[in-house]
Amino acid sequence: MTTARAPGKIILFGEHAVVYGQPAIAVPIHQVSAIVEVTSISASRLGVIHVEAPDIGLDSWLHEMDQDQPLARIIHLTLNEIGIHDPPALGITISSSIPIASGLGSGTAVSVAIIRSLSNHLGQSLPLKRQSELAYEVEKIHHGTPSGIDNTVVTYAKPIFYKRGCDPEIISIGAPFTLIISDTGVQSPTAVAVEKVRRGWQDDPNIYESLFDEIGRLVLQARYSMERGQVNKLGPLMDQNQVLLEAIHVNSPPLQALINAAREAGAYGAKLSGAGLGGNMIAIVDPLNAHAVEKALKQAGAVSTLTTEVIE
Ligand code: MEV
Repeated sequence: MTTARAPGKIILFGEHAVVYGQPAIAVPIHQVSAIVEVTSISASRLGVIHVEAPDIGLDSWLHEMDQDQPLARIIHLTLNEIGIHDPPALGITISSSIPIASGLGSGTAVSVAIIRSLSNHLGQSLPLKRQSELAYEVEKIHHGTPSGIDNTVVTYAKPIFYKRGCDPEIISIGAPFTLIISDTGVQSPTAVAVEKVRRGWQDDPNIYESLFDEIGRLVLQARYSMERGQVNKLGPLMDQNQVLLEAIHVNSPPLQALINAAREAGAYGAKLSGAGLGGNMIAIVDPLNAHAVEKALKQAGAVSTLTTEVIE
């Protein structure tokens, strides 16, 4: 049996603007992950693959699945990449502790864990760059114009500075800091929010381009502060990023309620994270105050909170 895992992720700064060529910063979240097990099974013929994902009620043979189903697609892409078209009969079991459609990269982590477990099981592990590129192909099924940040951070599993078309840069964190990630419980498919921003940009390209430029400037400042361990600068930068995300209309009342609650309970700063319109928000906190902020978030309606330390 071969097992592989890929972490969840969270975007710290720069979501949406990154689709339009601005830089963004994301970090892996190792407390949640997707795990995929590949086993050889006895079956009557070569090349048959059984796929099981109990979390989503999937129990099927690969050849019976729609080719554009994201799980089927990544399996085919991986086999194609390693040039094995008739593998021994295999069972692939997928599980994940990453909440779906909440901005934590659940689908991406599943893709990466499948690529790793399947290629390793067949004796042909793939370089990280290639794993990320294959996962990107599946991101395109979820929404037409992914920036590539999600597959990159999940594959490299390090804090990254990402700009479309450039090699990702790993950020070396000058001093660790504590984040609380909190879920509104409102599922928000990335495609819907990305499309909303696209319509806004098409209607008013000048305004949107200048908002994206401002977000890009914040991202550069955030990188500088992260690398130099200036943790106290990150909260205000998150608040400023949130104002710009509101201006491109991806905020929502449940997100705002959690952001207000975190700030009132003493968080240094807070913003939505990922696509917005629902899903998760993040707050940067003093670790000694994390418990109080978590309590305030739950009282304000959060369905879950996760405290995590960002370290290199
Ligand atoms: C989604 O996690 C992040 C977005 O910026 C979309 C993307 O980068 O592809 C909203």
